[in-house]
Amino acid sequence: MDSLFTENSEMVWYLLISFSLALVVWLIISRKAAGGGNKQPPGPPGWPLIGNILDVGMMPHQSTHKLKAKYGPVLWLKLGMSNALVIQSAKTAEELFKKHDLQFSDRKVLHSFTACDHDKGSFAVARYGDYWRMIRKLCATDLLSQKRINGAAPIRQDCVDLMMQWIREDSAKGSSGVIQLEKYLVLMTFNVLCKFVISKDVMGKNSEIGHEFHEAMTKYLQWSGTPNLVDSFPFLKPFDPQGIKRNAEKYLIKLMDMVRGFIKERVEEKLSGKHKDTKDFLDALLENDGKGDQLSEKSVIFVILEMLFAGTETTSSTIEWGMAELLHNPDSLRKLKEELDVVIGRSRKLEEGDVNKLPYLQAVVKEAMRLHPTVPFLLPRNSMEDTNFMGYFIPKDTMVLVNAWSIQRDPDSWEDPLTFKPERFIDSKIDSKGQNFELIPFGSGRRSCIGMLMGEKMVSLTLGRLIHEFDWKLPPNVTPQTMDMREKLGISLNLLDPFKAIPVQRN
Ligand code: HEM
Repeated sequence: MDSLFTENSEMVWYLLISFSLALVVWLIISRKAAGGGNKQPPGPPGWPLIGNILDVGMMPHQSTHKLKAKYGPVLWLKLGMSNALVIQSAKTAEELFKKHDLQFSDRKVLHSFTACDHDKGSFAVARYGDYWRMIRKLCATDLLSQKRINGAAPIRQDCVDLMMQWIREDSAKGSSGVIQLEKYLVLMTFNVLCKFVISKDVMGKNSEIGHEFHEAMTKYLQWSGTPNLVDSFPFLKPFDPQGIKRNAEKYLIKLMDMVRGFIKERVEEKLSGKHKDTKDFLDALLENDGKGDQLSEKSVIFVILEMLFAGTETTSSTIEWGMAELLHNPDSLRKLKEELDVVIGRSRKLEEGDVNKLPYLQAVVKEAMRLHPTVPFLLPRNSMEDTNFMGYFIPKDTMVLVNAWSIQRDPDSWEDPLTFKPERFIDSKIDSKGQNFELIPFGSGRRSCIGMLMGEKMVSLTLGRLIHEFDWKLPPNVTPQTMDMREKLGISLNLLDPFKAIPVQRN
């Protein structure tokens, strides 16, 4: 009996040791296969529990940019219980987008985006997978195709006309003539997108619904973009201590109900034969039914909402930064005005078709986007598997941030990087489409901006017309040198002190 017992326990020990050895060997092999050791990228030592949350602060693109001097362009941060990888040079961004785009094509879903299951029907914050691929393909080949965007030129032209008229009227009403440009730009871009997507003119006189819709959208984006403790400490999810998800949900429900109403209206118009012949984005989405990739009503609602979320402030604040930089740099302003006067003359308005004959205007747009990428970290990505990135071990579910703001100010890529100098783009082959990694305001790779062409067209047309049709004067006591060019990080990267000036109609 004794010997049987000893024999059995020897067997158990033997099995245990063999199993443990096999486990260790398997772990080593799988680690190697995933990525050569477990060396982490360098980063500042974190505090217990909170990690590097205090190092990051309220302007994370600036604080991580400062950390580059000490830790290099591949930075590792611990944000509470979550890990973050920050990429901060053109070379490391190229490595990421060329060699690891697929592994990092997932999005990090922030807690606020789970309100109303937004993340599940979303496009921009969708997890990488079949659903996202289907929506992306539909947008690239149909909804946001070059043909459809070019065809929307009259919409952009009309909305800019209306904005210019508003600016003229409002400036004439006030005693100082000073206007705050931001309001006009936001409403104009929102109007372009609403007309393009759902054929709704929200800037017209009877636009109650437009203002209500825009207000709910702003509130939703403000809440969902507020830094949330839950994203660093997931065990807090059930408590939602800052009320972020609850508030985001309140506005999202309102927005969803409104879009549901637009859809119902459209379906009824079609059934009664009242609907016009030209198809908009909503028609294309609804008609997609039955082509094999059927979209649920909820998906249609989210895709529509996200076009407006993703396209409005990104575009309007790029234009505002462009205007502020031009007034801050009178030499560039003068050169742009001269180019417009020579190419367009003074007897007609700038049209979209003119833009390719205006190299200085194109250079101004690129330079504004270089210094002021309105989505400074792009949209957060997520590593889908353990990955070896440039010799570092990046575990699955790491948040991946690409600091476009830092890359676009990097002296290794740009001469005199902090100066606004559109001339650097004259005779240069660098563009912002995602292939030149020193300039990536629209991101790059599979998850790059799908509305890039629409955004670029709105920015060039509006900036060109504002400069061509008005002489801009700064408010009393403000000079180009004393203008406040500091930033504020909200829904997108904005001017801390919104741009104000006096538009004087040119004769
Ligand atoms: C100047 C204007 C714009 C800028 C600077 C901009 C910037 C960006 C950036 C940085 C991203 C994330 C890219 C990445 O993660 O690599 C993005 C994504 C996106 N943008 Fe834009 N955007 C602009 C205009 C627009 C417009 C007008 C639309 C829609 C009509 C739009 C729709 C989207 C969508 C749907 C995504 C998510 C794509 C995906 O996850 O697959 N954007 N944008």
